[in-house]
Amino acid sequence: MIDIVKAEKAFKEYLKQYDVESEKVALKVTHTYGVVKASEYLAKQLNLNEEDTNLSRLIALLHDIGRFEQSKANNDVYDNADATLFDHAIYGCKVLFEENMIRRFIEDDKYDNVIYKAILNHNRIAIEDGLTEKELLHAKLIRDNDKTDNFRVKLTESFKVLLGTDDVEAINNEKISDDIYNTFMRKSLIKYGDTQTPLDRWSAYIAFIFDYNFDESLRYLKENDLVNKCFNRINYKNLDTIAKIDNMRNLANNYIEEKCK
Ligand SMILES: [Fe+2]
Repeated sequence: MIDIVKAEKAFKEYLKQYDVESEKVALKVTHTYGVVKASEYLAKQLNLNEEDTNLSRLIALLHDIGRFEQSKANNDVYDNADATLFDHAIYGCKVLFEENMIRRFIEDDKYDNVIYKAILNHNRIAIEDGLTEKELLHAKLIRDNDKTDNFRVKLTESFKVLLGTDDVEAINNEKISDDIYNTFMRKSLIKYGDTQTPLDRWSAYIAFIFDYNFDESLRYLKENDLVNKCFNRINYKNLDTIAKIDNMRNLANNYIEEKCK
């Protein structure tokens, strides 16, 4: 059995060792609860049973625990697509399972493999092969729910953190590289390593819409108009970029519309 109320209490207890007033920790706490909220929405949309609903909430609660642990050693707890320096998913699994911290959140060990695989795969380019049906379901759920809350994050987080600069005028005048634009227009994910400009990275964030597993998640983006709000956060000035953004916005909206039918 999954006692989600007990797990949430244990999570609050776990957070007591951190300075939740500090901006960076607060952001990750808000994100965690945002992912839990997204998991509840998606579970309902998919008509998941009580067990899978609670399991997806629990995985949402724990998916970024590696980030909190990381912040003890390093002040940079923020997510960007460059996971080459530190993989918080591997670290989270290590902390939860090697040191048995998982038992603080759930007594029953029968879901351990599902939780482990879901967290391990949540930030990878693609889900690894060889998962059981239940492991795969939860790996897909957490990947969608994490992305969904990250659209909210892109609207609230500073440009300094998201794009590496808070010079708004410079961002507004930036361009989108042709290959990044073409990748977006092919409805493909953009590799963070291929991005050259801040607006390339902004495009890469929005291109995550093409990597959703469940159309119902896109409905959440649509209902909250999150993709348009993301496009609108920047006041594009370069004429070539304005034209590209127009096409990207139309493509994105049509894509979502089609998936939500
Ligand atoms: Fe996350």
